[in-house]
Parts: sequence; structure tokens; C-alpha cells
Amino acid sequence: MAITLNNGFEMPIMGLGVWRMENNEIKDLIINAIKIGYRHFDCAAYYKSEAEIGKALVEAIQSGLVKREELFITSKLWNSDHGHVLEACKNSLKKLQLEYLDLYLVHFPMATKHTGVGNTTSSELAEDGMLDIDTTISLETTWHAMEDLVYAGLVRSIGISNYDIFTTRDCLAYSKVKPAVNQIETHPYFQRESLVKFCQKHGICVTAHTPLGGADANPQLFGTISCLQDPLLQELAEKYGRSPAQIALRWGIQRNTAVIPKTSKLKRLEENLDVFYFKLTKEDMDLIKTIDKKYRTNLISTLAWGMDIYA
Ligand SMILES: NC(=O)c1ccc[n+]([C@@H]2O[C@H](COP(=O)([O-])OP(=O)(O)OC[C@H]3O[C@@H](n4cnc5c(N)ncnc54)[C@H](OP(=O)(O)O)[C@@H]3O)[C@@H](O)[C@H]2O)c1
Repeated sequence: MAITLNNGFEMPIMGLGVWRMENNEIKDLIINAIKIGYRHFDCAAYYKSEAEIGKALVEAIQSGLVKREELFITSKLWNSDHGHVLEACKNSLKKLQLEYLDLYLVHFPMATKHTGVGNTTSSELAEDGMLDIDTTISLETTWHAMEDLVYAGLVRSIGISNYDIFTTRDCLAYSKVKPAVNQIETHPYFQRESLVKFCQKHGICVTAHTPLGGADANPQLFGTISCLQDPLLQELAEKYGRSPAQIALRWGIQRNTAVIPKTSKLKRLEENLDVFYFKLTKEDMDLIKTIDKKYRTNLISTLAWGMDIYA
């Protein structure tokens, strides 16, 4: 099942997120995921795993497991490379051993001090304990450099990530190539209905990152409340004979958002992909609406970057 983007390209609605996968496990995970049926992989320079993913993709393609054109590969421009978009994209392509990306996203609407192409250490803090923000590069400038990647044939689609309604609207105003995707945190406890609807109304596909609310993830980066423990999701899991994770993912798909759950477990790779043969009723979709807590679980900016960038 795929979503047709505003430029006609198709993006599989289910993808595999690779953030926080260990480098020594990535190759097997990607190959197994392809065998199971995953075609969409959500990567980023920031995840520091593009080289390992590249090796897996080469092996999968050379062994005949999959063809390049059947894959949908996303990568993201790191904050410190806003002034070096072409070089950063080429660096990701080289590591991934690809000639083009299906989708390249501006990872955050925020430029930080440049620390060398593809070098993401700008996520470390400056002496004052805060991120070293670069106030000289506008998002418009960054976007026009992203557009040049499309014209150069290096990427098929470009998009944004972690943009709110203000920044998304502005991007629509200055873009010649409209953003195809806005990748944002959204899950049953952080539904962001206005932002999702705004993007969809303007032809921007929403991809839900953290679609399981981070599940049982590292409390250094995430809140401690998991939507998968919610009584309603557990009750619906029982009703449909599915897991709470499958209910959360199915809900995401039925609101027409792509979902990119991460797992390093083979059994969960299968479980998370197995959401296409049941459907939540409208009543149950409406019930899930009632459990929204407006609860952002990904707290990386507050916990690791010394500032709440959403303040
Ligand atoms: N654009 C951005 O700024 C941004 C930010 C965050 C994430 N992302 C993307 O979104 C992807 C997903 O987000 P995420 O990894 O932060 O959170 P997530 O997918 O919501 O949750 C992942 C966590 O859930 C667990 N899990 C996976 N499947 C499960 C299941 N069926 N039942 C119970 N637990 C399950 C995983 O553990 P195991 O691995 O042990 O299974 C992992 O701890 C990332 O990998 C990344 O590609 C993008």
C-alpha cells in the first residue's frame, strides 16, 4: 500500500525507521526487513548508519532480492549542513551507495553551526550548555538548495521534518518545488490533528515518526508514558486479536499518514508490517481520538540539546 505524493511518486505507507539501531545489527535487520516485505527505509545522516545501510542495500540488490526501483530510501539533511546542502546530500548518497534518494528531508527547521559535511557533532552543546544555532541561514535559502537537488536528479522528492504550521505555511509560500512530505512526531498520545489536516489539505503527505510513541525506549530521550500501555489500545488489541502496536500503526495508516516504526527485533518487524488485513471501524477510530494527551515523547531537544526548541 502506497501514498501518492504531490509530484506523482509513490511512497510505501509503511517504512522501517532506523534511528538507534546498532551498527552491527543493521545489515541483518535491513536484509531481513526486505525479505519480509519492507521497501521503505527511513535514514538520516544524524543516525550515523548510512554506510552500514548502504552495504545492506548493495547486498540486497546484487543478490537479486530486490531492485533499486522497488525501494524507497529517505535521508535527511542535518542541522549543521543547511549551508552545504549539495555536499551533504552527495555525502549521504555516497555512504548509502545510491545514485538518487527517493526523499530528502530538512531534518529540523533550524540551522546549527557547521562542523564539516556529514559531521553531526553539532548536536553536542556549546560552552553555554545550549546548541550553537546559526542565525545567518534562512529556511528559504536551505529550501532553494533542496530544490536544486531535484533539478540535478539527485533526489526525487524533497520534504520537511519537525515543521509546525507556521514553518510549513511559510515553506509553501517560498517553494517552487512544494514539500512532498512533512515528517513529524505523531501517535495516539500526540495526534496533532490540526497540523496533520493542514499538511494534507495542502498536498503534503504526513509521515508519522515515533508512531509507537517511542514504546519502551530509552528514558534519556523519551518520556516514560507509552501509548501502547493505554487501556483503550489494549482493549482494541484484544477486540481485533492484534497487538497494541498494530492498533497504533493501523490507526496511523487509516488517518492517511505514513508510519515508520523502528524495531531491532525480527518478530516485531513482522508484527509491525502485518497491519494491512484488518480495519478499525469509524467508531474505534473516533474512540482513539479521545485518548490524545498532546504528549510529545521525543524529548531530545530538551534533554540533550540544552533548550526546548518547541518552546
Ligand atoms: N524526523 C525526526 O526528527 C525523527 C525523530 C524520531 C524518529 N524518527 C524516525 O522515526 C523512526 C521511529 O521512531 P522511534 O524509533 O523514535 O520510535 P517508535 O518507532 O515509536 O518506537 C520504537 C520503539 O518501540 C519498540 N517497538 C517496536 N515495535 C514494537 C512492537 N511491535 N511492540 C512493542 N514495542 C515495539 C522498539 O523496541 P525494539 O527495537 O526493541 O523492538 C523501540 O524501542 C525512527 O527510527 C526514525 O527513523 C525521525
